[in-house]
Amino acid sequence: MCGIVGYVGDKEKKEILIDGLRELEYRGYDSAGIAVINSDTLTHFKAVGKLSNLEEKSSSFTSDGFGVAIGHTRWATHGKPNELNAHPHLGKKSYVVHNGIIENYTALKDELIDGGVEFLSQTDTEVIVHLFERELNSGKLAFEAFKATISKLHGAYATLLITKDEPDRIFFAKNGSPMLIGFGDNEVYFASSDTAVIGKADSVYYLEDGEYGFAKGDEVELYDIDGNRKDFTTIPLSGDKLSAQKDGFRFFMEKEIYEQSSVVVDTMMGRVLDKRIEFEEISEDFFDGIESIKICACGTSYHSALSASYLFERIAKIRCDVEIASEFRYKEPLLSSNTLFITISQSGETADTLEALKMAKRAGLKSLSICNVDNSSIVRESDAALLTRAGVEKGVASTKAFATQTLLLWMLSLYVAQKRGVVDSEFLESEIEALRKSPNSLKVESRLHDKIHRLSKRYLHGHGFFFIGRDIFFPLALEGALKLKEISYLHAEGYPAGEMKHGPIALADSELFTIALMPKTLLYDKIKSNVEELSARDTTILAISPEEFELADDFIKTESSSHVMLEFFEMMVVTQLLALEISVRLGNDVDMPRNLAKSVTVE
Ligand code: G6P
Repeated sequence: MCGIVGYVGDKEKKEILIDGLRELEYRGYDSAGIAVINSDTLTHFKAVGKLSNLEEKSSSFTSDGFGVAIGHTRWATHGKPNELNAHPHLGKKSYVVHNGIIENYTALKDELIDGGVEFLSQTDTEVIVHLFERELNSGKLAFEAFKATISKLHGAYATLLITKDEPDRIFFAKNGSPMLIGFGDNEVYFASSDTAVIGKADSVYYLEDGEYGFAKGDEVELYDIDGNRKDFTTIPLSGDKLSAQKDGFRFFMEKEIYEQSSVVVDTMMGRVLDKRIEFEEISEDFFDGIESIKICACGTSYHSALSASYLFERIAKIRCDVEIASEFRYKEPLLSSNTLFITISQSGETADTLEALKMAKRAGLKSLSICNVDNSSIVRESDAALLTRAGVEKGVASTKAFATQTLLLWMLSLYVAQKRGVVDSEFLESEIEALRKSPNSLKVESRLHDKIHRLSKRYLHGHGFFFIGRDIFFPLALEGALKLKEISYLHAEGYPAGEMKHGPIALADSELFTIALMPKTLLYDKIKSNVEELSARDTTILAISPEEFELADDFIKTESSSHVMLEFFEMMVVTQLLALEISVRLGNDVDMPRNLAKSVTVE
């Protein structure tokens, strides 16, 4: 969740750290800090809030010549977002940055306080630097002291440490939180994600859980979980940063909504053939013996999982259960080995989803991940992975990740149906035809965007929003409500339309806003009756449908389409734009909404 960058080499270190942190800022932006050791001079800067505050504070500082440096952008877990709690944390002569949670920090902190150590922050992280210095003071060399320190830590962490005692080294350890080492020209980088080192490092090594070691000059000594020295192979780092820029849009989220129509073409490339669906990432016999599917995910990915459950059961005739990963972890689930365990994650680093996957693996289940980030922890942990190919998603409110996940899951349900022989070629061909039309349904017409912009001014108050839909439009309603809450801070719920009368209708009055998803291809008359019931109670209704609906206060007309998923995608775009425009009118930070983080690598 927090972002980490480290550098050993001759270049201007502050620039490298700030550049890298800018790429990672979406992971957390409560505060940021950097620390540099040049020969034996220690310098650090910390600032609350966005990275620009840190840049301003450190503007007159330069750090040429050989040295080591670490930086961090924080999403608060323990302790308020203030300067004292910002990383790097400082001992007498060492600095540490950390992502994750040290679960036994209270016991460690008490022990250190008993030994006379004074703590400056409320964070769990600060114990690392004090434990390290206590080991140093007992006569150990720095690496021995670092090893002794990490052996005492329980929980998830990725950490970098620098010390004046060995001013040419960065010590690192990774367990549960992501970290990679990048190699450039006589220099070594560290980062929690490769976007921070694109354009700088030529090759990278993604650390495995339990690995630790140090970089000295351009050499890295790596040790595995059992303490054995390990040889490792780097892989070339490709990609450029252009795709991660805003391209003239006001916000990354807006750009990403507009991109959906083109990224789904990548999602389908080489997979949607004329008469069948193919995934070369999955072996021919991958689904043999599989009798049911269980999907675990969080947030938006959970909503795409719920959508998939309708598709798997309806199209592939295979049982499919969906669970929120954080619930699954502790419910002592009963798992059987003929169940395929699917995890869905944009980042591939969500702690709850990753742990759910590990549990399923321990229970002997075959696993498949649907993910946007290659080489992420979830991808590496799974037996097989299908990448969504959405490109870098920077807006904290996920949009194109959801579109590509849902499209991929639709393709996968067709693939499973094909394997199980439950669909005929005529059906497959018509589904493929619909799949190929999906880029069109995802296009944002300026007429539509303008209309939503105008309408949005009427939806800035009220006592709540209900997004309602039936069948696969219920998960879409959940997702629409989530988008709105995330960036507008208005209360919104997604609800099955048919369930409103069992409680929520009690809230109905003119200040309750109902966003009704009324597709023409699925249960139109049923949802129409549900909306009429709400209209009779004077609820303000915004209907989204290809069919004029006279009881609506506001109406957004979608295209008439022959396929339910094409209606799904079109309505998805409407709900995303609605959330965006409401948030803009309210003056909120669309890309970095308060209290949220793009990648949640803590429980
Ligand atoms: C965070 C993000 C959400 C995301 C969820 C799951 O809460 O803010 O946008 O849906 O994590 O993330 P994942 O990377 O696993 O899809």
